[in-house]
Amino acid sequence: MSSRLEAEHLYKVFGRREEEAVERLRDGADREELRADGTTAAVIDASFTVDPGQIFVVMGLSGSGKSTLLRMLNGLLAPTAGRVLFDGQDLTALTGRALREVRARKISMVFQHFALFPHRSVLDNAAYGLAVQGVPRPEREERAAEALRLCGLAGWEKSWPDELSGGMQQRVGLARALATDADLLLMDESFSALDPLIRRDMQDQLLTLQQTLKKTIVFITHDLNEAMRLGDRIAVMRDGRIVQTGTAEDILLRPENDYVASFIQDVDRTRVLTAAAVMDAQVRGDEADCGCETATPDTPFTALCALGARLPHPVAVLDGGRGLVGVVPRQRLLRFLGESQGALPAPATPCDRGEKVTARA
Ligand SMILES: Nc1ncnc2c1ncn2[C@@H]1O[C@H](COP(=O)(O)OP(=O)(O)O)[C@@H](O)[C@H]1O
Ligand SMILES: [Mg+2]
Repeated sequence: MSSRLEAEHLYKVFGRREEEAVERLRDGADREELRADGTTAAVIDASFTVDPGQIFVVMGLSGSGKSTLLRMLNGLLAPTAGRVLFDGQDLTALTGRALREVRARKISMVFQHFALFPHRSVLDNAAYGLAVQGVPRPEREERAAEALRLCGLAGWEKSWPDELSGGMQQRVGLARALATDADLLLMDESFSALDPLIRRDMQDQLLTLQQTLKKTIVFITHDLNEAMRLGDRIAVMRDGRIVQTGTAEDILLRPENDYVASFIQDVDRTRVLTAAAVMDAQVRGDEADCGCETATPDTPFTALCALGARLPHPVAVLDGGRGLVGVVPRQRLLRFLGESQGALPAPATPCDRGEKVTARA
């Protein structure tokens, strides 16, 4: 599978003598050194790929360079160095009309404060991207209505934006992005201004939509929990640089540096991890035909605990083909809960093994 979106050694420097600044960054200079000269290194050597249908999350504190990176992905900002490839096409080489065309048809953006037009109906707001593309009114209204329906706003088409709650307005923003059929959605802190419950709702909605729409999404957030919930892969940014890229489990269980390790300290691991991360995968055999309750690799940790508490024996983890891919003895669950730092418990001890998995009830 070839990647849909690829960032190759992207740099963005604001200020004087940008190329020279990039050379210095390549030689190992950091943000602070350049700042002394009045130059801001907003993004430094960012590389990653996003596969079709993936949600790629860029996570970092305010000022770490997330928005600048995102704006380079759709050509709103020209990189100081590096390239952006979209379906193999070098976006950074496009200018003027060709670039606007790609941006209008293939890429949609959803911002934190979605600027709805106050004097246009919800339907017209959702249809705005299509109007820009020159889609005739009947078709764009039909497509916008469908996008609103997908976002849970059926029946609100004729309302005015100020009749909607903040969460609903943000849904209109999402509907506008979905209505255009763009393959690539760029979402910059799209849910950050929402109250926690509504925010969680929107995250759920996005995940549900994604199951059928399978867009390619780059989602920016400063919220680690949001990153972990949404991201198929996550890039952690610090001071302009990506300091780790991986799945939520990679970040949580195998932080590559002290910065990421300190960042994840307070994350509730039990909400992120699944059986695949916790199980002992060394055990294989014909136990799969046990008549007992079993888990799958993506069973959430909390569900696993509930199962483990009920069963006298380890939980068997079966894959889609119903083959045994691992077991989770109760000690492993307990040890995992007790771990204060993110490391995975050591491989199963003989004691774990002694609690044999032949759970033929
Ligand atoms: N147009 C600009 N001119 C100068 N500096 C900028 C500009 N845009 C962003 N920056 C600086 O680049 C750094 C990264 O900003 P930004 O990408 O907005 O970070 P984030 O989205 O992670 O909060 C910040 O130090 C910011 O002040
Ligand atoms: Mg930002």
